[in-house]
Parts: sequence; structure tokens; C-alpha cells
Amino acid sequence: MDSFRALVAEQQDGDVVREVRSLDPEELPEGEVTIRVAFSDVNYKDALATTAKGGVAQISPLVPGIDLSGEVVESSADGISAGDEVIVHGYELGVARHGGFAEYARVPADWVVPMPAGLDLRRAMALGTAGYTAALSVHQLEERGLSPDDGPVLVTGATGGVGSVAVGILAERGYEVSVSTGKDSEHEYLRELGAAEILDREEVSAASERPLESERWAAAVDPVGGSTLAYALRTMRSGGAAAVSGMTGGVALETTVLPFILRGVALLGIDSPQTPIELRRRVWERLGSDLAPRGLDSMVTEVGLEEVEGVLDSILEGGVRGRTVVRIGD
Ligand SMILES: NC(=O)c1ccc[n+]([C@@H]2O[C@H](COP(=O)([O-])OP(=O)(O)OC[C@H]3O[C@@H](n4cnc5c(N)ncnc54)[C@H](OP(=O)(O)O)[C@@H]3O)[C@@H](O)[C@H]2O)c1
Repeated sequence: MDSFRALVAEQQDGDVVREVRSLDPEELPEGEVTIRVAFSDVNYKDALATTAKGGVAQISPLVPGIDLSGEVVESSADGISAGDEVIVHGYELGVARHGGFAEYARVPADWVVPMPAGLDLRRAMALGTAGYTAALSVHQLEERGLSPDDGPVLVTGATGGVGSVAVGILAERGYEVSVSTGKDSEHEYLRELGAAEILDREEVSAASERPLESERWAAAVDPVGGSTLAYALRTMRSGGAAAVSGMTGGVALETTVLPFILRGVALLGIDSPQTPIELRRRVWERLGSDLAPRGLDSMVTEVGLEEVEGVLDSILEGGVRGRTVVRIGD
């Protein structure tokens, strides 16, 4: 293997310098499986990993990129062979070891997800961690008994990556989907994905004196957190649940115990980076089949490695719609 191109983020004088550089194969970490990366994608966490105060990067220099898809070029692991198409995301990838914004990556065998039927290298990264998190949220809600007959499901931060894929999955499965967004200009996009009702971000994040309000949602998929999660809890129907994955609206949660003790509402924590590998492989199989979202193509923008920096900047400002795929290979 020759030297290869990578986007590198390096802490210098309290700041983070990002540039596309050439790396030598010896700079790859230990691991049983070496992958020629075909695609990566950009997640909110990638932006945090490349900013000084993001609190996510654990090494410097770091090749960010918490997601990758590609072809195995070397493997010493049982069941994984050169030529296999695979997906890797989460665990320490792009955080504590070099990640997907590079032409090559090396990972432990038990992080590897074989490419499921129904997906290919690009489509897998169109979904990426955000799509996987949306699917895991729906999977966990349905494991708890949710079905389309139960009533409307609220998806917050709906034009973001997790939000867009959640809308597409739920609509395709026959749910009535209500969404919240801060982007007036994207109502048509959300309706195309399957949103039946669109709420304004202001409405769902406003403070309220009332610990309980009219029961509206059978469930919520919430990548926003903060005051929006407090809204979802106080408007949840009896027995409903919120699958909580994110914090773009803040980390603090001010609520009361009343939704929990008077309506039996449940909070389901969604931790995609650390999902056990068997569940991870199962959810990816479902993303290629019965959890395939409606409208994935309309969610995707494609960029090259040199354009990633601009996307990292705008994602922290909430300015990105849907998913950004990064083409790495030829
Ligand atoms: N727990 C996990 O395993 C896991 C996995 C993936 C992601 N996450 C987290 O989930 C969140 C979303 O990730 P993502 O990849 O979907 O990010 P994204 O593509 O950047 O989408 C975030 C969306 O949140 C909304 N938003 C932005 N700023 C907001 C604010 N101040 N108040 C309320 N809403 C705001 C915007 O949607 P609208 O304009 O439509 O409102 C934005 O498009 C992040 O916090 C990320 O770290 C967690």
C-alpha cells in the first residue's frame, strides 16, 4: 500500500487546523481489517470532533469521519476476506482512532458490518450514523410495542440527518408523521419524505408553565433534546415513549416527573456508537429491507474530500439539510 490522502485535524495553540494531507500506511492504527474507503459522510459529531471546544476528539492528529464504507484489502479475521464490501461506524472511529475521511482505514474485526442485501457502498453512507440512529430509534420503539395504529409520531429536528431518515422510515412503514423544524424553506422537502403535519421549532421549544398538556403523540424520535424534549414529554400520550438521541437544542432537560408517573411515558436512550455488534448488524439488515426510508435520494448531497471542511462548518449552525455523502475512492 502506498501513501494515501486523508483529511487531518490537528490541535494547535488552542485551535484545530484541518487540511488534506498525505499519510503513510504505518500511520494507520492496529487492527485485523484494512479497508479501501469508498465513501464516508458528514455527521454533527464529525463537526464536534474538528472544533476546539467540541469535546469529542480524543487524539491529535486525528483523521475524523465516524462512518465509512469500502472494500476489504487485507484481513486476518475469520469470516472477513479481501474483496468484501463492509460498513464501519461508531465505537472509536473518527474520535479515538483514525476514521473515514481517508482513502484507507484499519479497524478491529468486531466493528465490521457486512454490506447487507438492499444496500451498496454509497447508499450505506447516505444513511450513515444518522440513518442508523433513526433506524435504531424506530427499532427500539417498535420492540416496545409501537405500531402505526397507535397514533401520530413526532420527529424533531426533521430536516437534519437523523430527523430526515426517521421521517422517511416512519412514513414508509405507514405511520402518521408529525415533524418540527426551524427551516420554513424546507416544508416541501419534508412533505415529500412523508410528513403529514409540520410544527414550527419555536412552538415545540417554547417554555411552558404546564407540566402536562393535551396528549398528542404515540411516540417521538428526538435528536434535538433540551426544551424540545421537554415539550415532547408533556404532550406524549399515555404509554408513549420518546427515543432520545441528540442535543442540537441543548443538553439540559427541564421537566417534571408527571409525564412518567401519570401517563406512564418512557424515555429510551439511543446510543448508536456503542451498540453491540449483533444488534448493529441486525439494524443494518433492516435498513436494507423493512426499514428502508422513503426519499433517501432527495436527502443526499455529495461532496469530495476537499469540500468536507465547508460542510463541517455549516452543520454546527444547523444549516445542512438531510445527509452529506463524501466520495473518497475513484
Ligand atoms: N445518540 C446517538 O447515538 C447519536 C447518533 C447520531 C446523532 N446524534 C446526535 O443527534 C443530533 C442530530 O444529529 P444529525 O446528524 O441529525 O445532525 P444534523 O444533520 O446537523 O441535524 C440537526 C438538526 O437539528 C435541528 N437544530 C439545529 N439547531 C437547533 C437548535 N438550536 N434547536 C433545535 N433544533 C436545532 C435542525 O433541524 P431543523 O432545522 O429541521 O429544526 C438541524 O438540521 C446531534 O446532537 C448528534 O450529536 C446522536
